Amino acid sequence: MQHILKKLVPETLKKIVQHYRGKGLQHSDHLLESTIYADIGEAGPLVKDVFSRLKDIPGFFNFDDCGHFFLVLSYQSAMEIKGDLLEIGSYHGRSTALMAKCLKPGERIVVCDAFELDVDDNYDNKPSPENLISNIQRVNREIERDRIVIHKCLSNDLHLDADEKFRFIHIDDGGEHTIRVVHPIFGEWKKTVRIGDGDTINMPVNFNDQVNIRITAFDADGKPIWAEILVDNESTGELTPKEISVRVGQRTIAAKKEGYILVNGERKLMLDKYINEPIKFIFKKAL
Ligand SMILES: C[S@@+](CC[C@H](N)C(=O)[O-])C[C@H]1O[C@@H](n2cnc3c(N)ncnc32)[C@H](O)[C@@H]1O
Repeated sequence: MQHILKKLVPETLKKIVQHYRGKGLQHSDHLLESTIYADIGEAGPLVKDVFSRLKDIPGFFNFDDCGHFFLVLSYQSAMEIKGDLLEIGSYHGRSTALMAKCLKPGERIVVCDAFELDVDDNYDNKPSPENLISNIQRVNREIERDRIVIHKCLSNDLHLDADEKFRFIHIDDGGEHTIRVVHPIFGEWKKTVRIGDGDTINMPVNFNDQVNIRITAFDADGKPIWAEILVDNESTGELTPKEISVRVGQRTIAAKKEGYILVNGERKLMLDKYINEPIKFIFKKAL
């Protein structure tokens, strides 16, 4: 019966039904192009007022990225988190323009890009700093020029003022990057990460975090000895063997004992919550 009914349906109508069926959940490729209501719903203000102005800037930042960045940056501002925004890898400024849209009074957008310099992944149609500025300003007509800071250099050569504070950093190029965060009191935190193309990594740095490290000390004959434990040249008041809690970041761990010389030297370690390295100091009797 179903077979007979199918025969009665004109071919053109069948094609139309197949076309719309093809747009079901299992076939989402057409969404890469579609902007019709049936596929993506009604465009909201983010598409109409913001993304519509970014879309003509050459680049890779898509509407999903735009939504996520807008949410995080707006949420930070709602929570009164203040600071400049840094982007490494702006290209023509598609993502930069969106970030600049989320600036609050007194905040700046700081950009580092190779521009016309050679990099491992050479891009076609290299931007100039002037292109970038004009794209940012086209999307953000109200932004003053001195709130856009451009560093034309490779990220390895990027030097920022020690008192520069960022609330959000976007690094948009795959490869290896060393991130260094300097706290005015608690010192330096550094990590080298490899970011794959299209990866997003979240790297919170909390200088209040502590890392536990076990410290031991032995004499030249392998006998355990009590030695005073020092962190960043200050006594902890603890003696080996002991597990101590040390603030994350770049730390110098040492030990000392009267009448003894430290044979294997102090350790400069980058501590974060993923490192838990036992340290063994060796002493010999001073002559
Ligand atoms: C993927 S594109 C950035 C796309 C852009 N964020 C967007 O939303 O369209 C990467 C950019 O980073 C730049 N770049 C690559 N390696 C770099 C490096 N080591 N230092 C600075 N910029 C670099 C490239 O020249 C290019 O402009």
